[in-house]
Amino acid sequence: MKYFLFIIGCQMNLADAERAATILDKMGMTQTSSEKEADLIMALACSVRQSAIDRVYGQINKWQGRKNLTTVLSGCVTARDKKKMQEKFDLVLDIKDLPKLPNKLKNLPTYKQNNYLQITPKYTSNFQAFVPISNGCNNFCTYCVVPYTRGREQSRPQAEIICEVRALIKRGFREITLVGQNVNSYGQDLKPEAEFVDLLTKADSIPGHFWIRFTTNHPKDMSDQLIKAIPKLKKVTKYIHLPLQSGDNTILKKMNRKYTKESYLRLIAKIKKWIPGVAISTDIIVGFPGETDKQFKETAKVMKTVQYVMAYLNQYSERPGTAAAKLKDNIKKETKRQREEVLNEILKKSSLAYNQKMVGKSEEVLVDGQKKEYYYGRTGSYQIVKFKSRKNLIGKFVKIKIVKANTWYLDGIYA
Ligand code: SAH
Ligand code: SF4
Ligand code: F3S
Repeated sequence: MKYFLFIIGCQMNLADAERAATILDKMGMTQTSSEKEADLIMALACSVRQSAIDRVYGQINKWQGRKNLTTVLSGCVTARDKKKMQEKFDLVLDIKDLPKLPNKLKNLPTYKQNNYLQITPKYTSNFQAFVPISNGCNNFCTYCVVPYTRGREQSRPQAEIICEVRALIKRGFREITLVGQNVNSYGQDLKPEAEFVDLLTKADSIPGHFWIRFTTNHPKDMSDQLIKAIPKLKKVTKYIHLPLQSGDNTILKKMNRKYTKESYLRLIAKIKKWIPGVAISTDIIVGFPGETDKQFKETAKVMKTVQYVMAYLNQYSERPGTAAAKLKDNIKKETKRQREEVLNEILKKSSLAYNQKMVGKSEEVLVDGQKKEYYYGRTGSYQIVKFKSRKNLIGKFVKIKIVKANTWYLDGIYA
């Protein structure tokens, strides 16, 4: 029996899929990378935008026609979609019920761990890993479906996370990314309470040559203590992802983001001052209900001020059941597209400007890809570097001399 994992969405779904793979392996199945030869397909869905969940609908309509194929759906699914999906999939399983998969599927005993995050993952890579530090979210940004699909924030005990990281380093992993919907509120639900900065400090103190990344920060919760700690932590990369969503205070209020343009910019100023050479990226939503041209321009202004190296630009997509779904999604698709394009032009300039400052420097790069005679990797600040080599360098740290800046990547020389 062969299984195929169909994964969409964020790093949280990737980490969840690695745990699902462990369970399926334990059930005696073999993983395949070919959808066609699978006897079982497990989909990990994302519902953050309509387009993401539409992809799952498209797939299941195709899979339903196949004989002797078992289909399982998990990941982020809204209550409304769950109902419809139950008619199409053989099994729809809440991700927290992953330990029950053997039982639900084959009447086998439930997997020994009750909390699914304690399942030892079957890591996809042998040098990069995403380690979840929490699951769910308490913030209820009005546009967002995540609190409904993943529930309230549940932090993993610090000792459990450190144990996973330690084991990864022992196996030679080079890059650990700590993931949570809001890493800055990590530990508030634990007894005794724990702080993200302590977790990061503990991970940093593990011996070995490796990098630690983390995502995502929330501007309302990111502490001065954390920002000040980062330059002192040797393994933590100087890269901060800080979602802005909108640069207009009225829209931010309607989004329930709980910060203002001014407080966001103050936070950015501290990050730039206390973490020399830092690279900053963001998430933005254009076309939130009622967003005027003037309000949109506020977002463009903030983007010009901050000078992001990267920004994930999203056109607002109405999510059933969220608070924003009660507002009229009145911004035309074409307007959303144009606004995204305007921001993309600003981003291109700031990304290129950051890259130009790196020319001439010698940077440590973690190599993670290869195409023909070229290798690809990333700097600590998350810039893509392209260079040539004949050696096998995948998964290795190398020193690269940066020789040319492009909009989205750097050209380098490996000596
Ligand atoms: N917890 C993270 C990530 C949430 S989802 C955070 O708070 O930043 C990732 C991104 O998708 C969000 O940052 C947001 O920019 C975008 N997004 C979420 N809901 C959306 C929606 N309904 N329409 C368009 N983009 C959305
Ligand atoms: Fe969604 Fe907001 Fe939570 Fe991020 S912080 S997952 S955008 S509700
Ligand atoms: Fe991630 Fe999509 Fe769920 S962004 S948390 S997989 S809704």
